[in-house]
Amino acid sequence: VDTPTGRPARARTTANLRIRAFRVDDLPAIVSVWESAFAIEPSEQEPPVSERLHARLMHPFFTDPEGCFVADLDGQVVAVVQAVRRERLWCLSLLAVMATAQGVGAGSALMDRALAYGTDTDAGLIVCSSDPRAHELYSRAGFRLQPTLQATGAINRRALPSPLRAVVEGSYDDLDALAAISRDIRGAEHTPDLVFALDTGARLMQIPGQGFVVVRPDSGVWCLVARDETAATALLSSGLAACDVGELAVRFIPAQQRWAIDLLVGLGLEVSPYGALAARGAPGPLQPFIPSAAFA
Ligand SMILES: CC(C)(COP(=O)(O)OP(=O)(O)OC[C@H]1O[C@@H](n2cnc3c(N)ncnc32)[C@H](O)[C@@H]1OP(=O)(O)O)[C@@H](O)C(=O)NCCC(=O)NCCS
Repeated sequence: VDTPTGRPARARTTANLRIRAFRVDDLPAIVSVWESAFAIEPSEQEPPVSERLHARLMHPFFTDPEGCFVADLDGQVVAVVQAVRRERLWCLSLLAVMATAQGVGAGSALMDRALAYGTDTDAGLIVCSSDPRAHELYSRAGFRLQPTLQATGAINRRALPSPLRAVVEGSYDDLDALAAISRDIRGAEHTPDLVFALDTGARLMQIPGQGFVVVRPDSGVWCLVARDETAATALLSSGLAACDVGELAVRFIPAQQRWAIDLLVGLGLEVSPYGALAARGAPGPLQPFIPSAAFA
């Protein structure tokens, strides 16, 4: 049987593995899959983080119910995939397999279902972990992987440039105008995902017509899109200034974006390799761009 990845279905996939649509009542099991796959201690998921995680897992289900599946092994949910379509762009939002069920084909089977949901799109994006099995699955599906970096630590606030008057607070009313920037840089609007971010307490800052940054003040930068590096640099420094935690993180920065690395290193953050951004088709230049880990 040919699969959407163009390879024969694997023989070692366990016979008891069943792929089915995601249901609302799967949520507790999916939280367990998430924690197991990404080795997160359940105790770390306390409110408001656990509420935000539930909202994050339900958002693709609300916008793209036909792109969300689980794998059931002997009656237990062991894996989940969520893909979203935004205009002409397909994004893999989540692929996770419980640690004890990894390596028996659940990830591969779910990836095939998620890819089938994107057949009428002409570009794709995936924000990847550093797991080589994920890289194998994505490159097999025709995605080109470029390495990404993360910047973590405490920012040296004295090194922050003075706030630029051009950077102003954004709101739901600005989303239509910002959609054009996302279309030009990453191939599709971010609108439904920006609504999700604002609904769950994120802050939107923008330079009208030039770009925007979304920050979660308690954790770091969520997404940044800009038309040029001058705007991107101003937005990133304003976004970081708006974070009110000691330790913060900016993740999945495509490694060739020197404008971001120079700024983050200059602010005292530690930069290290983490993950990859995978693209297929021609989503756009993908720079200046820091993708949303969940919705690219
Ligand atoms: C990545 C992940 C989704 C893969 O799912 P899985 O069910 O474990 O993987 P599968 O059994 O379907 O195998 C996937 C492929 O990776 C290959 N693979 C296994 N180990 C590998 C390695 N060390 N390096 C490269 N490829 C490897 C397998 O051979 C398989 O290819 P095949 O079909 O040609 O045999 C899963 O392991 C996981 O949840 N990891 C932790 C969370 C994570 O990083 N998710 C991805 C976020 S982007």
